[in-house]
Amino acid sequence: MIAVRHAEQADASELVALAAAVGREPGNWLLTTEAWRPIADERRYLKTVRRHADAAVLVAVDGDRIVGRLSLARDPHPASAHVADLGMMVAASHRRRGIGRMLLEAAVAWARTARVAKLELHVFPWNEQAIRLYERFGFEREGLRRSHYLRDGVAVDALLMAYHLPSEPGFPPSRAP
Ligand SMILES: CC(C)(COP(=O)(O)OP(=O)(O)OC[C@H]1O[C@@H](n2cnc3c(N)ncnc32)[C@H](O)[C@@H]1OP(=O)(O)O)[C@@H](O)C(=O)NCCC(=O)NCCS
Repeated sequence: MIAVRHAEQADASELVALAAAVGREPGNWLLTTEAWRPIADERRYLKTVRRHADAAVLVAVDGDRIVGRLSLARDPHPASAHVADLGMMVAASHRRRGIGRMLLEAAVAWARTARVAKLELHVFPWNEQAIRLYERFGFEREGLRRSHYLRDGVAVDALLMAYHLPSEPGFPPSRAP
């Protein structure tokens, strides 16, 4: 059975290993290939995130094994503090079982408590499986950012996608017409 929870410092080495494994896949899904952050940096990052309301790292666990990760960070500019950026991955062994969707649902729950009204992400245009997950979830394409990232020294495009949280009374803030 799969459960989703907040990451803890003790998860650092497993999370680094997961990112390294996904980053090495021939699909070129992630920005990082070999070089994810060192375990000690990851541990520090997870400790910091647990103390701050503006970021979160969620993990999907199958028993005691981490099989997915979703990271969230609020936009630092005060005028877009209602927006958070996300990034995610699921272990190759556990794909197409609804874990990606579960992580996105947990991200929306976090957004609500953090007063975040819009979730955004960047995805490579060739990553059709991720784009399909996001679109089925309700993300919309907001544009193509050309040569936006350097991946192993090569400039690559990124699709910008966003999800607007369904409104409840008083949340999210009203939009200009
Ligand atoms: C993209 C990713 C996170 C999806 O995770 P997942 O757990 O397999 O996704 P889910 O099982 O929740 O899929 C939900 C829906 O997304 C779509 N989808 C996901 N993977 C798909 C695939 N390979 N082909 C077609 N549709 C797919 C389907 O509509 C699926 O619903 P269905 O299985 O009922 O048809 C996972 O493939 C992954 O980690 N890829 C490598 C890293 C990556 O690309 N991260 C995102 C970077 S922006």
